[in-house]
Amino acid sequence: MTGPLRLGVNVDHIATLRNARGGVHPDPVRGALIAAEAGADGITAHLREDRRHIRDADIRRLKDEVPLPLNFEMAVTDEMVAIALDVRPHASCLVPENRTEVTTEGGLDVLGVAKLPDAVARLTDAGIRVSLFIDPEPLQVEAALKVRAPVVELHTGSYCDAPAAERDRELARIVDAAKAAAELGIECHAGHGLAFDTVGPVAAIPTIMELNIGHFLVGEAIALGFGGAIKEMRRLMDAARA
Ligand code: PXP
Repeated sequence: MTGPLRLGVNVDHIATLRNARGGVHPDPVRGALIAAEAGADGITAHLREDRRHIRDADIRRLKDEVPLPLNFEMAVTDEMVAIALDVRPHASCLVPENRTEVTTEGGLDVLGVAKLPDAVARLTDAGIRVSLFIDPEPLQVEAALKVRAPVVELHTGSYCDAPAAERDRELARIVDAAKAAAELGIECHAGHGLAFDTVGPVAAIPTIMELNIGHFLVGEAIALGFGGAIKEMRRLMDAARA
């Protein structure tokens, strides 16, 4: 399974910034529309149980107002399955969720989550493409096949966080898991922690079809866009005084 590599832009942390002030700015939907203009192939958003960034209304607006496929990241809970069945995103990526974690720390233990096979079946029956967020382990890929998930997303966090001396070893784990997925006919995605200096070797794996990237892009917007916002503010101030 090879083909063009899609970019899913995760807008969670636009919402993190918005929520820091409790208002409506910056708007993750506006960010998603900018992502669409900039060449993203899809939008990803994670509605966490504690709603710490994306909120229910954001998910609905992302589905209704953005002309790109929505990948709804969700924990394997009855509440989230019900929301997905109501919103009908293009895709659902099932992730482990722990209230106290800062971000999704590891992949799913696919056979260890009792509700997972039923969730995969119900979402699939509704026409939603299901992916399972897993550590890059061939055993987890095989488990994904057992629960009939058509897609896995490999957690690239360990690779991205690894010291330079260990990065090749972590990359090899991703290569092996991607190979296992291809052999089993499972579509392979990857994401978490990817940045300009880490994306290349993952993007070069030919059977990986999609990368989901968020935190780095939102942070890097400061370098690539902060100056433009300041210039516009300066212009408005100067125009008001003219
Ligand atoms: N893929 C999944 C399943 C995730 O949980 C996340 C983080 O929400 C990402 C990709 C994107 O990670 P990052 O924000 O570090 O780019």
